[in-house]
Amino acid sequence: MRSYYIHTYGCQMNGYDSERIAATLESAGMFSAASPDEAELVILNTCSVREKPQHKVESHVGKLRQNQINAGLPLKIGIMGCVAQQEGDNFLKRFPYVDFVLGTDNIDMLPYALNEIASGKRLSETAMYGDGKFHILPFERKDSVSAYVTIMKGCDNFCSYCVVPYVRGREKSRSQREILDEVKRAVHSGVKEIVLLGQNVNSYGKGIPDETGFAGLLRSVAETDGVCRVRFVTSHPKDFSEEIVRIMAYHPNICPCIHMPLQSGSDEILKKMNRGYTYSGYRDKIVAAKEILPDILFSSDFILGFPGETDEDFEHTFDAVREIEYEMIFAFKYSVRPGTKAELFKDNVPDEVKTARLQRLIEAQERIISKRYEKMIGAKLRVLADGVSKRGGNVYTGRTEHNRVMNFRSDSPVKQGLIVDVRLTEVKRNSLYGELNK
Ligand code: SAH
Ligand code: SF4
Ligand code: F3S
Repeated sequence: MRSYYIHTYGCQMNGYDSERIAATLESAGMFSAASPDEAELVILNTCSVREKPQHKVESHVGKLRQNQINAGLPLKIGIMGCVAQQEGDNFLKRFPYVDFVLGTDNIDMLPYALNEIASGKRLSETAMYGDGKFHILPFERKDSVSAYVTIMKGCDNFCSYCVVPYVRGREKSRSQREILDEVKRAVHSGVKEIVLLGQNVNSYGKGIPDETGFAGLLRSVAETDGVCRVRFVTSHPKDFSEEIVRIMAYHPNICPCIHMPLQSGSDEILKKMNRGYTYSGYRDKIVAAKEILPDILFSSDFILGFPGETDEDFEHTFDAVREIEYEMIFAFKYSVRPGTKAELFKDNVPDEVKTARLQRLIEAQERIISKRYEKMIGAKLRVLADGVSKRGGNVYTGRTEHNRVMNFRSDSPVKQGLIVDVRLTEVKRNSLYGELNK
């Protein structure tokens, strides 16, 4: 078995884990195939945060099996990530052609799993390390302008709807030294932008006596030589403090945007979600942040149709989106997750009501964004260049400080990794267009 292909579902943390999986397979002598059809091993790195991605994984496995039969190939299939953690052995039983299932804490076991399946065995391992440490073996990064660095794993918040604390275990932070070493290695291999990842970055360092907390870590990363940009996700509103914004104000290489999911604008629903804040408390934190750093913008996730969500509750969410004027929102219909507290609540909002609320929210957000960017036409935005765009020629692509894709024309070549000031000329639904030299 020489070639592999990894499909990644879910969040950026799963993306980071896929990089670790790839590096582990490569150090075992394997190489990445150009497509799944050419691979001898296909790994699905899965997500179970909502029903839909979980179903997608199950139908994906069936499709892989079908391709395998059609092509007569001796394909091996591995399931990793959050569905693997949740289902474990059960997945092996339900899908007899799956070769191994490894949970979220078992990436280091891959070489062992490869050995086992080479001799025709099947295995499932989902044990979580309980030693209070979170250690990641160093791995080689692929050539890229931006790198994810996971700073903590798990979650202790137990929001009533969420499966993450069950599939990712208790919250554990990596040591600052280990994180900074990884940042330095990434910069050395050409990375310009570091994205720090955790389910709740504001509680980074909890349980490690000598750590300075997230504020200290953020400062150290921003001050590391060669780090041109820093982003971080996700900030939980209940633990968010002004200290972070002060550090952002002192370090212009920290992008002035914060992903701080509100989930709902109704205090009643927030309480049932076990989020630990009210809308006014949330809004006050945003107002205080804007006083320190006027350029700062926020993004958020929302759940529509949580059990018991009335029209009035939804109106509070709708008003919140219009009041905060987010840079970006991600909105999802509520989906019941097995084993969570909300599983006991009656999922009583009809699907069409969930859909209608979702659409109204997204449309309101689109109006906010087109208004914001139309007003900015002619202004110069800082863009981290990421090479030639798909259109080719003299059109390049990159991302703004607020993480929007910007395609721009330039008369002279623009090297990947360069930060350039691009004049905004046109606003489209999913991207911005600009000119570099005029
Ligand atoms: N740690 C982050 C969220 C991680 S999960 C936070 O606390 O904000 C990403 C998003 O998925 C959540 O913000 C939430 O909006 C959504 N989500 C989680 N569980 C869900 C469920 N059962 N149904 C619908 N959306 C859900
Ligand atoms: Fe899930 Fe809440 Fe933890 Fe986010 S903070 S991962 S929503 S339990
Ligand atoms: Fe999904 Fe697991 Fe991330 S459930 S959102 S891949 S932590």
